[in-house]
Parts: sequence; structure tokens; C-alpha cells
Amino acid sequence: MLKVDNLKITARSSHEVLVKKVSFEVGKSETLGLIGESGSGKSLTSKAIMQLLNKRVFSTEGSIKWKDTEILGRNANLPKGYRGSQIAMITQNPMTAFAPMIRLGKQIEMGFDLKGRQAKSDFYEQLDSALKKVNLNDMRKIIHSYPDELSGGMLQRVMIAVTMMQKPDLLIADECTTAVDYASEYMILKELEKLRKDGMSMIVVTHDFGVAARLCDRVAVMKQGEIIEQGNTFNVFTSPQEDYTKELAHASVLFQEDVC
Ligand SMILES: Nc1ncnc2c1ncn2[C@@H]1O[C@H](COP(=O)(O)OP(=O)(O)O)[C@@H](O)[C@H]1O
Ligand SMILES: [Mg+2]
Repeated sequence: MLKVDNLKITARSSHEVLVKKVSFEVGKSETLGLIGESGSGKSLTSKAIMQLLNKRVFSTEGSIKWKDTEILGRNANLPKGYRGSQIAMITQNPMTAFAPMIRLGKQIEMGFDLKGRQAKSDFYEQLDSALKKVNLNDMRKIIHSYPDELSGGMLQRVMIAVTMMQKPDLLIADECTTAVDYASEYMILKELEKLRKDGMSMIVVTHDFGVAARLCDRVAVMKQGEIIEQGNTFNVFTSPQEDYTKELAHASVLFQEDVC
């Protein structure tokens, strides 16, 4: 469904190449983990897929095809409903996903095509149940709040719930459990697992090997803007070819032992 080929992202001002030679595919009902340390280019790669890179700041080369249609750069030909219903992303920084001056309920509603009172009341019923799935049990309070009246973790969970309601063909989840508490992380991972079982394609961006091991069919390991290793999750984690992957795996196991 998604084919990224030789993606290169350069910062216009410094001419620094931030992402290079990145190629991977995500098939139908497949979950790919994009893993690697902070600053390795995972978010930029995800944003390129979502067409969220500011063209004045970044230049891109290569190709990103969604269902055989080119969606990158000058040749981009975005299919109708591409963002949202076809590909949706849970971003790392939830504050940027919401407009600060509009109450949450109103702006969430705007993302859906609601005609008539019945559609609206059905919608809020669905929203209530989606919010409960990510451990948010007071919909009334949330829909009447402005974004900065909620914590970052709560806002992130609102974004996750809304994205799940959109039921995109491909979901990109960028570090979607970093800002949330353990109980909520547990629930979010369970929901992602359920979506995966239901056949949604996903890109799970994470620096947490435990999350990747649990959710991903395949993983691509990024370092300094490049994918240095990719393959079946089990194979990559049990017999990593690159020293960097070994170090990351080792570090995350040590970390988990520390916590336990
Ligand atoms: N707006 C920007 N201008 C210049 N460099 C940037 C910008 N945004 C990100 N970068 C750089 O690009 C690299 C990759 O960033 P990013 O994709 O956010 O990493 P990751 O998500 O893997 O932590 C980092 O070195 C970061 O400093
Ligand atoms: Mg990131």
C-alpha cells in the first residue's frame, strides 16, 4: 500500500541532509516499526508521508507512493481524503495538532462530516466510547475544554481516540505513548493491538523495543537519517546484524530490568 523509495530530506537553510536513502514498504494489514534513537529521522520520515513538512524549510527527493500514486514533492497527486480517512498520524507533540482557541468538542466535530442531529448524537456516543478506550472517562469535561486546559498526556490520548475513530487505512503512531502514564500506555497499546488484528496497516514509530516487539511484524532501524537494518521483528531482535541495533536492544533490555 505504501512504498517509500530513496527518500531524502534536506534542510534548506543549512543544506544538512537529515534523512537519506530511506526505503521501505508497508503492506495491507502489516505493521512496520520505525525504531532508532532520538534525532535519527523517524518523525521527519513520518511527516513526509503525511505531507506535513514545511516546503520552505525542507526539500525532498525520492518517491513516496500510496496505492501506486506518487504523493511526494512536485509530482504529488494526493488522492481525495488522503489525510484522515486514508492515512492518519498521531503526532509526537499533541499541542500542535489542535487549534488553541477552539473548544475541543467543536474542533473534533469539524474533522467529521456530521449532518443532522442524529449524526451528531451518534458521533458523541462513539466519541465517548473511543475516549474510554484510552482511559478518558469524562467526555463532557473534555469537549468543553480548550487544549491548554488538558495535560499533554490527556491531549495525546484525545488525539489517539479521534484518530482511531477515523479508521484510516494506514495509521502512523509517532511515539504515541511517551507522554502518558503507565495505565494509559497499557490501554493504548491494547487498542493498537486490536486495530492491528482488525487489519489496519500501521507504522509504529518508537524508541522502545518492547513496544516494537509487541506490535510490529517488521522493523526498520534508523540511525543518523538512514535505515541501517530492516526485516522481520523476531529476526532483527534476536540476531541483529548491526552493532547499533545490538546496542539499542541491549540498552532497552537493561532499562526494562532496571524498572522491574
Ligand atoms: N525544522 C528543522 N530544521 C532543521 N533540522 C531539523 C528540523 N526538525 C528536525 N531536524 C533535525 O532532523 C533530525 C531528525 O529529526 P527527527 O525526525 O525529529 O528525529 P526522531 O523523530 O528520530 O527523533 C534531527 O537531527 C533534528 O535535529
Ligand atoms: Mg520523533
